[in-house]
Amino acid sequence: MQLIDGKALSNKVQANVATKVEQLKQEKNIVPGLAVILIGDDPASHAYVKMKAKACEKVGFYSITHSMPDTISQDEIIATIEMMNNNPRIDGILVQLPLPSHVDTDKILEVIDPKKDVDGFHAYNVGRLVTNLDTFVACTPLGVMKMFEAYDISLKGKDVCVVGASNIVGKPMASLLLNAEATVTITHIHTKDLKAHTSRADIIVVGVGVPKLITEEMVKEGAIVIDIGINRIEDGSLVGDVDFENVSSKCAYITPVPGGVGPMTIAMLLSNTLKSAKGRII
Ligand code: GUN
Repeated sequence: MQLIDGKALSNKVQANVATKVEQLKQEKNIVPGLAVILIGDDPASHAYVKMKAKACEKVGFYSITHSMPDTISQDEIIATIEMMNNNPRIDGILVQLPLPSHVDTDKILEVIDPKKDVDGFHAYNVGRLVTNLDTFVACTPLGVMKMFEAYDISLKGKDVCVVGASNIVGKPMASLLLNAEATVTITHIHTKDLKAHTSRADIIVVGVGVPKLITEEMVKEGAIVIDIGINRIEDGSLVGDVDFENVSSKCAYITPVPGGVGPMTIAMLLSNTLKSAKGRII
């Protein structure tokens, strides 16, 4: 069994981004800028946004966080996004999800200029991903692809089971894998027999937010298991969606939680924002 070290890979990607930022500054006088919109006081969202802002600072980006109370109206959120769409210092706009229930998330995401949609959630970019065109791809699944690449894990013809069909993770993950010529099965909450699908997969990618959903008997010997879940359990510790202790010995490769996919999400956000900033000179 080999651990896939997301933290180390993320640091490598971030160092590379920092070098490119320095070059952009020197040669083109461009400083990549990211705007984060944070609504309400969900502690997890606050923690994520803080990590994102810190990472931006580390690589030399300009970044701003617009924090708003959850009583904010949808129109005010839209007005803030439009302001960022028109701000030439901003290359990337990220609206931290989930949004309060009175806000229409789909509508909000569609207001973001697709050229600044570094989260890859806009329907325009999702459509481009599905048709295998160059685009902004959602950071978490993109980070998983980067892991496969870094560890020389080939996908062509592999049976991959993606557990979870969210717009943020499962669906873009499945599209990326299909574009990489894997045979993809997507399972979700209404799937009749999850084990039937996971146990024949060469690769399992799971991101549903259910601690220890994937157990030993659901995994084939020698499989590769990517755990996107991040769950805080009663004792305060963070665990993934995989029963790591019992599953890991069966795997060829497995990602730990924490220190697996999580750090890659931030690295890909920086990488997408840099890509957008480079677009200023085209
Ligand atoms: N909430 C959970 N994951 C994400 C993400 O990748 N981007 C945003 N904007 N919100 C999230």
